[in-house]
Amino acid sequence: MEATEAIAKWRSIRKFKDEKVPDEKILKILEAGRRAPSWENVQPWHFLVIEDRETKDKLVKLSKGQKFVGAAPVVIGVCGDISAWDKPKNKEALMELVEAGVMKVNEAIIDKVMLEDPLFCVAENGPAMILARTFEQLGIAYGFMGIEAVNQGLGMTIVGAFNNDTAKKKSDLYAELKSDLGLPEDVYLLALLTIGVPDHEPKARPRKPLDKIASRGKYGRPFSV
Ligand SMILES: Cc1cc2nc3c(=O)[nH]c(=O)nc-3n(C[C@H](O)[C@H](O)[C@H](O)COP(=O)(O)O)c2cc1C
Repeated sequence: MEATEAIAKWRSIRKFKDEKVPDEKILKILEAGRRAPSWENVQPWHFLVIEDRETKDKLVKLSKGQKFVGAAPVVIGVCGDISAWDKPKNKEALMELVEAGVMKVNEAIIDKVMLEDPLFCVAENGPAMILARTFEQLGIAYGFMGIEAVNQGLGMTIVGAFNNDTAKKKSDLYAELKSDLGLPEDVYLLALLTIGVPDHEPKARPRKPLDKIASRGKYGRPFSV
């Protein structure tokens, strides 16, 4: 399937056939996430494949009773690793880019310029920006993963309404889940990708017209004439 076709076919799928999803297809989806680009190649993500009933039941409760989460044969928990932005880890990612010939700077420039400048170093901007950038990178990863899911003939919904580390009220159930899953303190479960063989064919959901969201040269001047 061409990427354009897979994008056109995208729908959030919330009803699944009672069929096992082959591991090979899940691997392709994970690989799509792995290939996603990220800020300075920091890759602040971890993808946790969840298939057991007990964990899925907890996820339904944490997502305010969204039942399709429990009905999906596979849920990929998309985690954001907040510690990936720590300067030593950020430096590792940058050095890897230097070694790969992508960036032509030396170690001193990385230490003294890049990792001290808030424009380049996310950690210099404090926790709110760290969280914002984490969500941004994860969004790119699960965007790629969604397109691959369609390509594999599977359906998926991204679930973000979920009680986690970013919730105002910390819940005991989330703490329990984090411990069950062995998630380190700095690794936040930020989105759930519910995946299975689609059992419905919804119409495309509404979108704003292109001329409301895209311009040419000046805001509000239509791209197309
Ligand atoms: C970051 C994010 C979080 C979302 N969270 C939920 C959710 O918690 N529950 C849900 O049913 N759909 C959720 N959705 C799906 C959107 O409601 C859906 O993408 C939108 O209505 C457009 O429909 P479509 O995906 O079928 O085109 C989420 C989508 C995104 C991108």
